[in-house]
Amino acid sequence: MKSTAIAHINIALVKYWGKRDFLLNLPAVGSISITLNDLFTKTSVDFNTDLSRDILYLNGQRAATAQENRVSNFLDLIRKTADIKHYAKIISNNNFLTGSGLASSASGYAALTIAAADAAGIDISPVKKSILARQGSGSAARSIFGGYVEMKLGNNPDGSDDYAIPIADENHWPLEVLIVITSNDEKAITSTDGMKISAQTAPYYNNWVKSSAGDISQMRDAITNKDFTKLGDLAEHSCLKMHALMLSSVPPLIYWNETTMKVINHIHEMRKKGTAVFFTIDAGPQIKLICEPGNAHKLKTEFENMSGVKKVILTSLGPAAGVIEE
Ligand code: DP6
Repeated sequence: MKSTAIAHINIALVKYWGKRDFLLNLPAVGSISITLNDLFTKTSVDFNTDLSRDILYLNGQRAATAQENRVSNFLDLIRKTADIKHYAKIISNNNFLTGSGLASSASGYAALTIAAADAAGIDISPVKKSILARQGSGSAARSIFGGYVEMKLGNNPDGSDDYAIPIADENHWPLEVLIVITSNDEKAITSTDGMKISAQTAPYYNNWVKSSAGDISQMRDAITNKDFTKLGDLAEHSCLKMHALMLSSVPPLIYWNETTMKVINHIHEMRKKGTAVFFTIDAGPQIKLICEPGNAHKLKTEFENMSGVKKVILTSLGPAAGVIEE
């Protein structure tokens, strides 16, 4: 009863921020993301009758109790579906920095879902896997699939229609992404806590929720038609709208640092001079630059040479999550 899976991180082009149900982890808005190629989580799950609790090793170390409990609660869903009682030893490793806005919960819970379902011997559809992954982390529902992915906004109170679906695979339009790392610190407020604060205090939270459906349908068109300017404009707008919501929360959720702002200004300058490049930022200070196929390489050095930038990672679009042989 052991299996290992790999899932890749994703970045949202139309952002998810807010929940319609915190207990079942049902997003208040739909979202659209791209799965990335070179950054992934590899997780093995070993259900074992000798264990008296679930044990989680994260990046080579026994995880903190809170993290272990969150994973254990998640595995209860798998145990219930598979009708088994065994606890598991989970070994999970990211090949990138954890906890600083690089979506480790997305690849983490997607890899855990795939490995745990396989280890428990349950044969379920990708959509069912996406529903399970969503209960670990909303963005994880999207990392089940590769390429361009849409997380649907569901209606059902039980979340049975809250799952991701593929829009197009990674070969449809091979965009490139530069991840500009501006800090190695762990983020101060988790997405889950931040979303609670925004829903309770941000003055235009309801308008954020209302305006999302339009962004989703336009982004779908931009992807289908390979309209880069439209995709970039929409992605930046969705990102800035989400950060404005974060900034207007009480207490304010400020995820950017000086270098984040410097990179944003630089991108706007570059665009004025004719370079087609757009940015997006999640709940952390790193900036992800979206580039047309073949264009990222020449931009990489330019950002590497900026003061305050710690590292720049070049990547392309990546595949769906899946089991690997070990
Ligand atoms: C800013 O999926 O981490 O990255 O469902 O509470 O685990 P939980 O939140 P999470 O939120 C991701 C928020 C975001 C935007 C996005 O990826 O859409």
